[in-house]
Amino acid sequence: MNSGPKPPATATKRARELRAALERHGRLYYREADQEISNQEYDSLLAELQSLELQYPALRTDDSPTQTVGDDTTEGFANLPHSSPMISLANSYAREDVEAFHQRLTRLLEQEPTAYVVEPKIDGVAAAIRYERGELKVALTRGDGRRGDVITENVKTIGDVPANIDEALARKRFGATELFEVRGEVYMPLGRFRAYNEKREDEGLPVLANPRNATAGSLKTLDPREVARRPLHFWAYSMAVPGPQLAGSHWDELQALRELGFPVTPESRRVQSLDELFEALSNLEQLRLDLDYQLDGAVIKLDDTTRWEALGSTAKSPRYALAFKFAAEQARTRLLSIVASVGRTGVVTPVANLEPVLLAGTTVSRATLHNQDEIDRKDIREGDLVLVEKGGDVIPKVVGVVTSGRPKRSRPYQLPSKCPECETSLVQEEGEVARRCPNPACPPQQRGRILHWASRDAMDIEGLGEKWVDLFLEEGLLTRIADLYRLDGDALRQMPGWGDRSVDKLLRNVDASRQRALANQIFALGLRHVGIAAAHGLAAHFGSFDALRRADLDQLESVADFGKITAQSVREELDREAAMLDELIGLGLLAATQEVLAVAANGALAGKKVVLTGTLTSMGRREAKAILEGHGAKVVSSVSKATDLVIAGESAGSKLKKAQDLEVEVWDEDRWQAFCQEQS
Ligand code: IVH
Repeated sequence: MNSGPKPPATATKRARELRAALERHGRLYYREADQEISNQEYDSLLAELQSLELQYPALRTDDSPTQTVGDDTTEGFANLPHSSPMISLANSYAREDVEAFHQRLTRLLEQEPTAYVVEPKIDGVAAAIRYERGELKVALTRGDGRRGDVITENVKTIGDVPANIDEALARKRFGATELFEVRGEVYMPLGRFRAYNEKREDEGLPVLANPRNATAGSLKTLDPREVARRPLHFWAYSMAVPGPQLAGSHWDELQALRELGFPVTPESRRVQSLDELFEALSNLEQLRLDLDYQLDGAVIKLDDTTRWEALGSTAKSPRYALAFKFAAEQARTRLLSIVASVGRTGVVTPVANLEPVLLAGTTVSRATLHNQDEIDRKDIREGDLVLVEKGGDVIPKVVGVVTSGRPKRSRPYQLPSKCPECETSLVQEEGEVARRCPNPACPPQQRGRILHWASRDAMDIEGLGEKWVDLFLEEGLLTRIADLYRLDGDALRQMPGWGDRSVDKLLRNVDASRQRALANQIFALGLRHVGIAAAHGLAAHFGSFDALRRADLDQLESVADFGKITAQSVREELDREAAMLDELIGLGLLAATQEVLAVAANGALAGKKVVLTGTLTSMGRREAKAILEGHGAKVVSSVSKATDLVIAGESAGSKLKKAQDLEVEVWDEDRWQAFCQEQS
């Protein structure tokens, strides 16, 4: 623990909340390529935590998100150590931060820097690419900064990345020996991203929120032939081996990378004063609207690379550079109408229909307005001129209203009191802002449930995307989930676009879904508050759907990570959905079983902080996590003095080393398997 004034309980609580939120959003961003909040929102949570930790150093732990870089390591990929750590950049949003950066460098260098390079901060995925004797040999993701996932075959499919470089030139320009490593950003151009999303939509696959997520998902695809079909590109920005200092100036380093055949952003500039620096920043901010790749800011680097090493770095970022983030892109447009849209769980969400407008590379014509409270607070009305902004989501949000030009006749908007789809009176539960349609047979709810049932973490019915579900609903082949298991091949063959082969394949996939594990089947039901992690917890705790269905509140509350509210909600949902559950059970579903694990609260690992690292050959990470949680452990991502146990699978790296240094207990896979057997 660090010293300093004892933090008040409110600060401790807030720090805990912030850490949990940052860990969750970090995981979504780095591991699942599926972010929920904008980068700016993430950074402001991080800044709040940073300032709390600064005020009360006792709150800072080694595994705080303020001290660690994100972790993109993924199951199924081998990983290797980096030649030097891939750390992050310090962020800034204001002119004063840039001035402070300049002053800091002036102080540390004992003279004013004579030149900086300003380059686009490309919103893609970092990669380190190694050449041995001129030949591309290994490509790695950033991983946890010390080790990265091996994505060599995937990177080889990127046309921009040379398979071979001129070794003699590398030697001449950089004094490179046999090894050469370039670092840069893999990205998907905006135009290609739009076309790729349209194709996904046609194929009934969910569209991706932004080019970064599309890139991250593509790089983590296990089949390189599939990756080759994705329109990925690369911008190089540094030479990690033999080291940028050999180039003398970062500007020269970029030119030399270009000479070696690497693409380098033509928008990069070398500037020689603070005034020129600010001019370059604002030029880039203007220019970004016309570029075919996404950038979320600029990177300012001291040009003199010979001083980089001596300047050193903080836990997360080097002192020679600063990221300057641009404000999120906004667009102004007319809100044509507000429609109430009913989702899978019956929640009625007001959605704004907008006059189409170009925003961050895509044409936007809809935006979510969240709920009535939000509409009231911002006083959003039909006919208003509004400002829209893209967060991490596919659907942008309305962030403000221009009230000055508002038409005289405009009236505040009220969500309907009846469901716009089935006319059932809407309900609003105490303490909730959302209004919901309580009729489970309501058509859009059934549509959402069918899609959720078929989705990957649920029953994983390949080929059953939005396009086909809509067609089948329209044609009356489907009304609810159970109908999937009664689909008639002959009727399907009459559908436009369907033939013998596709029908057989779909029926086979539907049938195969019966074999899904209990946890996936529970998740597929789409019960409120039951995401995939909770579904694993329920399966591990109860062992069968029958036992879960009979569970009382006390039993539900003793499931790992469940509280009173979740327990109550699950109980209510099970009762409310009785008819659907009976029907599915009648069709032979929900029959899978899973071995019951110890009750978490008295579990063998109750309250212990456990880190999983490396690859477990006997089971997936998710399963191991569910088992650990079933025994009461809390699974955390990085090793610190507070860690109780590290489970190290194959090719475990820096986390294992850290555990050994800190003398934390370590189990290898044999010990872990023995534990699983003892407990079952
Ligand atoms: S230089 C020590 N230059 O931003 C890190 N990074 O927050 C040196 N990025 O992970 C990185 N454009 O993936 C650098 N022109 C650029 C960049 C850039 C995007 C990414 C990079 C890094 C992240 C840092």
